[in-house]
Amino acid sequence: MSPDAGPDTGADVGAAVDPVVDPDVNPDIDPDIDRAVDRAVDPAVDRDRYRLAIGRFATGVTVLTTFAGGNDHAMTANAVTSVSMDPLLLLVCVEVDARFHDAISDSGVWGVSVLSAAQRPVAEWLSTQGRPLHGQLDRIPHRRGEVTGVALLTEAMAAMECRTTDMHPAGDHSIVVGEVVSLWSAEHPADALVYYRSRYGALR
Ligand SMILES: Cc1cc2nc3c(=O)[nH]c(=O)nc-3n(C[C@H](O)[C@H](O)[C@H](O)COP(=O)(O)O)c2cc1C
Repeated sequence: MSPDAGPDTGADVGAAVDPVVDPDVNPDIDPDIDRAVDRAVDPAVDRDRYRLAIGRFATGVTVLTTFAGGNDHAMTANAVTSVSMDPLLLLVCVEVDARFHDAISDSGVWGVSVLSAAQRPVAEWLSTQGRPLHGQLDRIPHRRGEVTGVALLTEAMAAMECRTTDMHPAGDHSIVVGEVVSLWSAEHPADALVYYRSRYGALR
């Protein structure tokens, strides 16, 4: 998800939470009510309120990388989730309109570099709309992954190479699932870069 909303002011958090309507959980409630609630959309559910709510889910920050059309592509991403331990699968969500989307679709291989707090300027740069594609990694130390050749950030706290196993359309994003084909973790991890309420922070 592209967190393009302004900072969370916390000013408008009024949506009441529905009571438990699952009849298995609350047997006093008629199951018809459950179906009615499934169909209904609370008018208070809109994008701004969703951004506010989901912005309270603190995440780490990564840089996704791939190589396509003779160029390194890279972008900041926090929609990154570990999926499976056997096999080792990871998913990332990539906005359909991002340049990175076509690149990852074409290449089928990608890297995930987990950022430290000191790499905040990297996260800011690689989420800047309209930055030039050519040379966007020139001032960011990186190396080539041994298996896929994608760029991996040298100063990251961990890095993985993945090969795409599935791509699922999901609204204005695609869910890209990949098998981890190489991984590396820094011996002495620094403070983590975190993203919370539309702001960067550090976690010791
Ligand atoms: C903290 C943060 C996390 C982001 N996470 C994602 C993400 O998970 N998926 C995504 O498609 N865009 C995400 N974005 C937005 C992209 O970084 C941004 O749109 C970027 O410019 C896309 O690369 P492109 O311009 O080469 O298409 C995020 C931005 C920020 C600041």
